[in-house]
Amino acid sequence: MQPSNTSGTLIGRMSSQPPLSPKAPLPSGPATTTAGLPSRVLLTGAGGFIATAVGRLLVEAGVDVTGVDVRSEEARQRANLSAGAWSKIINADVLDVDLRSLLRSVDAIVHLAGSPGVQSSWAGGFDHHVRNNVVTTQRLLEAALDAPVGRIVVASSSSVYGHVGQGSADERSPLAPLSPYGASKAAMEHVVGAYVERGLSVTPLRYFTVYGPHQRPDMAMHRMIEATRGGPVFRVRGDGEQLRNFTFVDDAARATVAALQSDLAPGLPVNVGGSGTASVNEVLALIEELAGAEVKRETSVEVPGDPGRTAANIDRARQILRWSPQVSLRDGLAAQIAWQAARARQNAHA
Ligand SMILES: NC(=O)c1ccc[n+]([C@@H]2O[C@H](COP(=O)([O-])OP(=O)(O)OC[C@H]3O[C@@H](n4cnc5c(N)ncnc54)[C@H](O)[C@@H]3O)[C@@H](O)[C@H]2O)c1
Repeated sequence: MQPSNTSGTLIGRMSSQPPLSPKAPLPSGPATTTAGLPSRVLLTGAGGFIATAVGRLLVEAGVDVTGVDVRSEEARQRANLSAGAWSKIINADVLDVDLRSLLRSVDAIVHLAGSPGVQSSWAGGFDHHVRNNVVTTQRLLEAALDAPVGRIVVASSSSVYGHVGQGSADERSPLAPLSPYGASKAAMEHVVGAYVERGLSVTPLRYFTVYGPHQRPDMAMHRMIEATRGGPVFRVRGDGEQLRNFTFVDDAARATVAALQSDLAPGLPVNVGGSGTASVNEVLALIEELAGAEVKRETSVEVPGDPGRTAANIDRARQILRWSPQVSLRDGLAAQIAWQAARARQNAHA
């Protein structure tokens, strides 16, 4: 199947391409079952960090995956590196592509296109976050009203909760974002609510800090690991005692696929939190132990929008998605360190 009448460029079929190194050894969780999986999925933001892992799981399960990403060359490279993450990829902005015709040929949508990143959302950066996090979602859902699609899974974030003072945030906890980024995701969830009222079956997944191979270079763990290898000095913001719930990327991907398969009530958000909760200082120490090298660092002031603590209650995901995180922080970090090392070796030989 090739999507027709789209304004984006069809780049080509990807699933049959052989994987290229570096392919980091991945800690494995249970395999995804194929029960209840849609046969054709539109994956937006397909070249992104989380989407690449989702696409790979879906393709391995025999699903026909059409990816859309505005950064298609990077997307294509990422998918090659991770053994083919989609059946095909369209080089287009979600806001430019002819969504109505595209949606005629899929059964479900995983919408991961978006602008992540807290610091980039301040000042004029907010326009970009509103465009890519809120407007893309609204346009996609509007087009889905006229399409025969079933489940739609969209990427929300733990940032909607802001600082979690004690205990853990469950899905009924108040939304109190501390950053324009978190506010854009909360707004997106309200948009979802409006379209659920009009009959769409949409599930927002609130991912808690995702890490692992292919992690975005702007993310803290990626920069910490680079700082063990002669990269830029890592800046510890404040005292480094900020606590984060960390989710290994393959665990996040399995939760996303499980959300496609489940019979969740439309509109119910679900926390996707991992098995590792640790402070920035603890992560630094673990990386130093696993990498066998010091994370070159300096301290600097706290930045606005950075919660002191995030903590996920994942009872809903356990009960309804029958999902739980499988990969420990130690194993997941070891995989990410191996991936970054392999990537550096490959770049050195390129
Ligand atoms: N990584 C995390 O820890 C984390 C945590 C919570 C939520 N999220 C959310 O999950 C989603 C994926 O995050 P990620 O870390 O994989 O980010 P990423 O930047 O690696 O992936 C996002 C992809 O979307 C694409 N994209 C953005 N706007 C687009 C548009 N208008 N049209 C087409 N493509 C577009 C980008 O080119 C990129 O490849 C985002 O919505 C993010 O906000 C991520």
